[in-house]
Amino acid sequence: MITFTSVSKTYEDGTEALKSLDFEVKEGEFFVLIGPSGCGKTTTMKLINRLIEPTEGEILCRGREIHTFQIHELRWNIGYVLQQIALFPHMSVAENIAVVPEMKKWDKPRIHKRVDELLEMVGMEPSTYRNRTPAELSGGQQQRVGVARALAADPDLILMDEPFSALDPISRERLQQDIRRLQREIRKTVVFVTHDMDEALALGDRVCLMKDGRVVQIDAPQELILHPANAFVKKFIGDRKSPWMTAVDVMMDRHSRLVADEAETGRRTGGEEPLFLRGEGNRFLGRWEGGTLHRDVPILSHDTRLREALGVFRETECDQLPVLHGKELVGVLSWRSIVEYLEQADAGEAGS
Ligand SMILES: Nc1ncnc2c1ncn2[C@@H]1O[C@H](COP(=O)(O)OP(=O)(O)OP(=O)(O)O)[C@@H](O)[C@H]1O
Ligand SMILES: [Mg+2]
Repeated sequence: MITFTSVSKTYEDGTEALKSLDFEVKEGEFFVLIGPSGCGKTTTMKLINRLIEPTEGEILCRGREIHTFQIHELRWNIGYVLQQIALFPHMSVAENIAVVPEMKKWDKPRIHKRVDELLEMVGMEPSTYRNRTPAELSGGQQQRVGVARALAADPDLILMDEPFSALDPISRERLQQDIRRLQREIRKTVVFVTHDMDEALALGDRVCLMKDGRVVQIDAPQELILHPANAFVKKFIGDRKSPWMTAVDVMMDRHSRLVADEAETGRRTGGEEPLFLRGEGNRFLGRWEGGTLHRDVPILSHDTRLREALGVFRETECDQLPVLHGKELVGVLSWRSIVEYLEQADAGEAGS
């Protein structure tokens, strides 16, 4: 969906913020940018939205150079949650959310309906909050309105620059879950910036770790943990809580070849390994094995800790378990990857 090819950005004062950046964000992907302060994350976001221009290189959106888009055409199709939340202070919550739909000249009833729908989506009762001004909201509520505003006109791409930074850990975790669920439901492409490795690993389909204006490693969370490209990545990953307390959704394989859609079963039989089947809306249907669908099978919940998960593997004697978020199948966790991770964490500790 978005492709950066040898993109560099040098600001007017000579600061080299980005040095030949290459990456691709796939359609429907949750792509996380992470790295130390000043490594160029916000600069990358601003380039996608054309708030600033690259010094060198090429940026494509769905195969088209972004300069060939009308600036409005581009911006209206990108929802942007800024690092510093900037609601219009004299406008109500509803008016703030409706900015892009108004520009797109949606009719009033449609806008009204959309605003209420979005407020509900971000967990704010419309009748209570619709007519308040930003000053009458808490910081966290303002951030939620910022998220609602970014989603308002149903953009194809959503850029979120540390959207949850001002939130307490509990609201933060709730909003993380919400945004992840939303992204899965509405299948939007999201580019999400954070400093926080736990957040990156919990949310990202892939995580891009940056340092000094360059990409250090781009990989799925599990790969980043099990196969860090160098000492910097290891250190960045290492700044996390105990491996035993790591949640299953960090270690699971989100794109497992053992996951299949219901319709695929005909084509994928005869293998030794089971398949985990999903139906409409990613709903988990059961384990397909030897030509039969077993519905009542052991599962893991996405927020289970590895310590507990290991117990489930032991009791059930399964090598792989499906990971569910509610009724949805979100990944597969293998016993091997937990063991590998724990061994590695152990070795890390012994070495330090
Ligand atoms: N307008 C500007 N003029 C000059 N230098 C700038 C400008 N904006 C950003 N920079 C510099 O470019 C580098 C990258 O900045 P950027 O805002 O992209 O970092 P970041 O990764 O988003 O950091 P943070 O995590 O602190 O938000 C920094 O060294 C910053 O000081
Ligand atoms: Mg930034």
